[in-house]
Amino acid sequence: MSFQPHSFYFSAVSFTFLAMQKIFVTRQIPQAGLNILRLQAGGYDINFADKSLSKIDLKNAVKGREAIVCLLTDAIDAELLDAAGTQLKIVANVAVGYNNIDISAANARRVIITNTPGVLTDTTADLAWALLMASARRLGESERVLRARQWHGWGILQFLGQDIARKTLGIVGGGRIGAAVARRAKGFDMPVLYVSRGAKPEMEELGAKRVDLDTCLRQSDFMSLHVPLTPETKHLIGKRELDLMKPTAHLINTARGPVIDEAALVDALKLKRIAGAGLDVYEDEPRIHPGLFECENVVLAPHIGSATTETRGKMATMAALNVVAVLTGKAPLNPVS
Ligand code: NAP
Ligand code: GLV
Repeated sequence: MSFQPHSFYFSAVSFTFLAMQKIFVTRQIPQAGLNILRLQAGGYDINFADKSLSKIDLKNAVKGREAIVCLLTDAIDAELLDAAGTQLKIVANVAVGYNNIDISAANARRVIITNTPGVLTDTTADLAWALLMASARRLGESERVLRARQWHGWGILQFLGQDIARKTLGIVGGGRIGAAVARRAKGFDMPVLYVSRGAKPEMEELGAKRVDLDTCLRQSDFMSLHVPLTPETKHLIGKRELDLMKPTAHLINTARGPVIDEAALVDALKLKRIAGAGLDVYEDEPRIHPGLFECENVVLAPHIGSATTETRGKMATMAALNVVAVLTGKAPLNPVS
């Protein structure tokens, strides 16, 4: 099928009509960000669908642009950057995680990459806690029984879960979201262990104790993952690590799917080597390992860590302001190093 630009994306411009804009927005983002691009950067073209473009359509759409506003579902690699051309100045990712972008390819082409740190920290920490509590109290499983009209009344032995208060919380990745998850644990009087490549002052101030990964896995009742996806963190949690966890422990992942070896997790859940898991992210999104659907002891969310109206608006605003800064010759506000 041939490429027909204006059949799938639209121009939002201040002064000109249907002239190609300097900025391309790869798929729908909240209006707050679009307003900034329109009012402060002169306009943009956008793929209005809430769906990623194919690689070929994206390559055609970014050709000749100075700025790309992209989502975590867009793979920004050397090929895409070359398709855009040497005039490309900035790629603003509307996400804090930027494993979808080849940073060294961008550096080599002197393209600035920005992300959206901080504005989604509390929202994502809340979701990690929602999954932790849902997993501990078997919320998904009990709701499924109810919705299937299979609940026939209260019973003292029904859906027994686990207490959370005073249990040990293990956090892998002591950055912004990891620390926000640890802060919330104070309300539950939980001792907190954390795994990090260096000591984290905020974690230390919260009274969290830095330990190695194996100790964290052995001693924690709840493990929550908050590392970025890098070659070092891919499959950080596999069969060996799952075997170290307590059989009563729960594993929560709001970081990135490939941090866990999903097949090994399915085995651990099926064999009850761990008690449960709460997942927001998956190894090969949007595909979900079919074994996960067969496990009652896993709570599954569709990558909604930052999905509140307020936070998504702030993320879009932040990305747009980075574009405005760079296109007006200023330093980016949130460059990825
Ligand atoms: P952050 O502040 O950069 O925290 C990440 C932490 O991980 C840093 O403290 C980093 O510390 C640590 N880290 C990196 N590599 C590590 C390793 N190999 N072992 C142990 N620790 C390591 O980032 P954030 O804002 O908290 O976000 C964390 C991640 O959450 C993002 O990268 C993104 O993938 C994910 N996220 C998901 C959602 C969602 O919708 N589910 C929403 C927001 C974010 P050092 O580099 O100092 O070691
Ligand atoms: C969401 O997953 C993000 O990285 O912002």
